[in-house]
Amino acid sequence: MAVQTENKRVVLGITGSIAAYKAPEIARLLTGRGYEVRVVMTEAAQEFVTPLTMQTVTGNPVMTSFWDDSPEEIGHIAWADWADTVVVAPASADFIAKANAGFADSPLLALILATKAPVLVAPAMNVNMLQHTTTQDNMAGLKERGVRFVEPEEGELACGWQGAGRMAAPWEIFYHTMRIISEGDFVGKKILIGTGPTREPIDPVRFLSNRSSGKMGVALAREAFRRGADVTVVHGPVRVRVPRAIQTVGVTTAQEMHEAMLSLAYPEEGQGPDVVIMTAAVSDYKPKVPAETKLKKSEAMTSIEVVPNPDILSDLGSRRSESNSPCLVGFAVETGELEDLLTEAAGKLERKNADMIVGNFAEEAFELDTNRVWLVDKHGRRDEVATSFKSRVAQKILSRVLKL
Ligand SMILES: Cc1cc2nc3c(=O)[nH]c(=O)nc-3n(C[C@H](O)[C@H](O)[C@H](O)COP(=O)(O)O)c2cc1C
Repeated sequence: MAVQTENKRVVLGITGSIAAYKAPEIARLLTGRGYEVRVVMTEAAQEFVTPLTMQTVTGNPVMTSFWDDSPEEIGHIAWADWADTVVVAPASADFIAKANAGFADSPLLALILATKAPVLVAPAMNVNMLQHTTTQDNMAGLKERGVRFVEPEEGELACGWQGAGRMAAPWEIFYHTMRIISEGDFVGKKILIGTGPTREPIDPVRFLSNRSSGKMGVALAREAFRRGADVTVVHGPVRVRVPRAIQTVGVTTAQEMHEAMLSLAYPEEGQGPDVVIMTAAVSDYKPKVPAETKLKKSEAMTSIEVVPNPDILSDLGSRRSESNSPCLVGFAVETGELEDLLTEAAGKLERKNADMIVGNFAEEAFELDTNRVWLVDKHGRRDEVATSFKSRVAQKILSRVLKL
């Protein structure tokens, strides 16, 4: 059974949109993480998903009317006080308009007025309804008053139109909810993460690469986002599933990753990141001259002449200012003994002018959802993080970053 901790009480408001079919999934994600969820539904919402479904998924009664309450308790006020956060998903155009105007003619609207908790809104509607100036003004009004939004996605809409208006995916709404409720120890911090492999072309159909899946970097990006950071991810050719509020930059070769990481770490204008984490597995070498057309079997490649790629971590480290800013974290992967891994990590810490090297073994890291790592930092600490999900490892790495 999930442990109930503080700051984990969510009121989930559901309004009359076809996207209401995704609401049970949002509730399931939240309860799965140990959150207590109470659902408030508008009358229209009940045409799309039943209170019984929501009650079953959450294990709590569902509020559908002002008039069901026992006389000793005014339900919508009690729930408004109870909530640590209020999430309205899906939010109809009608709800957004009424909430902006301060209407209180449904338990959900009254609760929105009464609560002191942060409110997160995930709109869902036809593209023209969304783009209508009235809806845009209503959303701007709510944003001005501190209501947060998970922007709708572009795509095919239930009404047959194509465009923006589809409600964000449940997992994305889940991440935004966690971000609101989290300890927030990365609020105001900018983090740049490099992840995934690189590909060095041999010819138009072949390349040199490695087994990196990018999962460690994705876990770090999600965790940093959850804790309030402003996150950018530079990734090699792997699928990176992160909330759209995280900026992603896709690259292929080590040279491209070098350019992207260096320009984002040390921008010519504006504020650079506070923390740079390089978890990417960059090819050390690349074919000297990639063939322009596919090499034929008859031209059998018995050897490929290679040249070194730029050393991204080294160049990130050497560009650091006197104050060793930004905080720089690299990864070291080995296949041998622990002794060798720790020696390599300590050496890398020095050579690359980094604040911390995260050491791990290839067979425990590549492509897996779990990892075991050692945190080797500039203060001489060498701590093991036992095998756990990469999300948990990411949690530990970021907590250590705050202490560097
Ligand atoms: C099949 C169907 C789908 C609908 N989908 C949406 C939608 O995605 N977004 C929206 O704003 N309104 C949608 N509506 C209209 C709302 O249900 C309607 O405006 C309703 O009054 C909203 O009430 P509520 O905001 O109290 O839930 C839909 C209506 C129907 C019949």
